[in-house]
Amino acid sequence: MISPDKIEQVKNASDIVEVIGGYLTLKKAGANYKANCPFHQEKTPSFVVSPEKQIYRCFGCGEGGNVFTFLQRLENFSFVDSVKFLAKRAGIEVEDARFSVNSGEKDKLISANKEALEYYREMFLKSEKAKAYAAGRLIDDATAEDFKVGYSPHEGGLAARLKEKGYTEDDMLKSWLAAKGNYGLYDVFRDRFMFPIFNIYGDVIAFGGRVFDDSNPKYINSRETSVYTKGRNLYNLNNARKHASSGEIIIVEGYMDCITVYAAGIKNTVATLGTAMTQDQAKLLKRYAERAVIMYDMDDAGRQGAIRAGDNLFAEGVDACVVSFDGVKDPDDYIKKNGVAALSERIKAAAPFMEYRIEWMKKQGDIRNPYYKEKVIKELAGLVEKSSSAVVAESAIKLITDKLQISRETASAYFRAQARAVMPDEPGHNFEDPLAMKNKGIDSAERTILLTALGYLGTEDQDVVLRHIAELRENLGLKYGDFRNTIYSEVMEKVKGYFRAGEKEILAKIEMDYVDNTEVSSMISEMLVGNHDNRPKKGHVADAIQIVSDCFFTILQDKTNEKLQEIKAQIIEAESSRDTAKQMELIKEKARLDKILDQRGGNIEQES
Ligand code: CTP
Ligand code: MN
Repeated sequence: MISPDKIEQVKNASDIVEVIGGYLTLKKAGANYKANCPFHQEKTPSFVVSPEKQIYRCFGCGEGGNVFTFLQRLENFSFVDSVKFLAKRAGIEVEDARFSVNSGEKDKLISANKEALEYYREMFLKSEKAKAYAAGRLIDDATAEDFKVGYSPHEGGLAARLKEKGYTEDDMLKSWLAAKGNYGLYDVFRDRFMFPIFNIYGDVIAFGGRVFDDSNPKYINSRETSVYTKGRNLYNLNNARKHASSGEIIIVEGYMDCITVYAAGIKNTVATLGTAMTQDQAKLLKRYAERAVIMYDMDDAGRQGAIRAGDNLFAEGVDACVVSFDGVKDPDDYIKKNGVAALSERIKAAAPFMEYRIEWMKKQGDIRNPYYKEKVIKELAGLVEKSSSAVVAESAIKLITDKLQISRETASAYFRAQARAVMPDEPGHNFEDPLAMKNKGIDSAERTILLTALGYLGTEDQDVVLRHIAELRENLGLKYGDFRNTIYSEVMEKVKGYFRAGEKEILAKIEMDYVDNTEVSSMISEMLVGNHDNRPKKGHVADAIQIVSDCFFTILQDKTNEKLQEIKAQIIEAESSRDTAKQMELIKEKARLDKILDQRGGNIEQES
């Protein structure tokens, strides 16, 4: 662990405007700075950096947080990496032993890989066989350079080269570049056409090597190391992301598909290196694209893989579609046979994922059989539930009900969560579920209290507002534990605790508490600078207190109503067991609760 003091020291030494300014062109806008958001595609800047609050926020895509979060999101750093990076920048020593050993190892592996890359390149340029193979597979010089393809000679030679450069046996074994046999170390890759694998920063983190003929295994790949996790990387994303300004990325299976498609001019192409796209890969892709074209092989594994890839992308909110073609196995062969214009046509004609998904399910069994049909609906409902967009979910449900010919009533039993919120209503009835409405109201009340408290932190009105908030809550007999949203209640507890302890920089303290929790950090930054109708204006303390008071009352009402329901049930029970004493006691309690609700004419309970 890096000590909290260290983290705070690093944070204080890292001005967010300077750090972000190193990546983006920031323009002054009032007290803040603006830029085009690096996390989504946009033409007018909606990314705001606040020097005063030391946070950033994008009003377009909702990304936000502190200087550490920024690096975590942009550089894909872990929290610790982001601290270390900024510490280095500020010239602060970070003493964490476990961490520096680990990062030493990572640096070692990356530099050993870099050495190997250079070696394989050198050998490639000397090998007529490798160059002829490249030419036969339509890899021109520029493409060979972009992908840095190489050759590992039959006789090896890398282990010797690495030794010469000072790498130990341990380094070589850990990087999987060499293995140990009866006669000592030997190269893992021999007489193979080499595909280096890069991370998004352009570091070589692994290799794949293909045989020149049809022998097996066709490919040998580096095993996973501390710098390479297959499921967290996308082949060629380092290049493709520079060509993804349209917001679209094409996903293929193999090294060669990716290279051929790229060489043909479709440069926004990445490969999953096999058919199993992970959720992490979908997340990674989402950072660079809002649309994805899945173009896997036309065999069973490819089709099955396309479904899995699509499901994972759907859960990330990426708009995906699936390409189909016939006659050949993969995009590489397709280009060779029909040319790139024909492939572009296939891409244009790609099927929207949900349509493809439904059609595919229909073909996997006898859809006229009601038992199979139900299985299909359940599976699709599970998928739709993962969408965080009500609009996307609604149109998916509509597509499913249409294509599978089920009625809205029947569907609603399967699409429970969404059904209530998004099922299209009968024309003429504008009906909102009262329960959903009530939940929304309570969430908004809890949020507004937090929003107000956070908004006044560090201002001249801070103390007076916090004191009133405490008083209002205590007078109504509420605890923050009564909040339904446990994150809101936790943060409010912190505000309360720091205020009582006489802490001067409450906001800084809270931000430090959540410094490695991107979810809460970004929620806090959103509350501090987001657009909120119910945010009290500067100086309008009385309004703010009135609003908070209403909010607490909403929460009290909710809690009281809940209790009241309970009491009513108990009264009936006492009645039937003829426990008059108990009944009297309960009736008294009911009267007390009724009175609470009547205080503001707020008894919204429906008589049953
Ligand atoms: N793959 C692998 N090991 C294998 C076979 C495949 O790692 N033995 C991975 C590789 O990343 C490969 C991808 O799965 O690129 C797709 O496999 P496949 O379609 O068999 O290979 P292609 O990429 O089409 O290669 P080629 O055109 O050279 O046959
Ligand atoms: Mn192929």
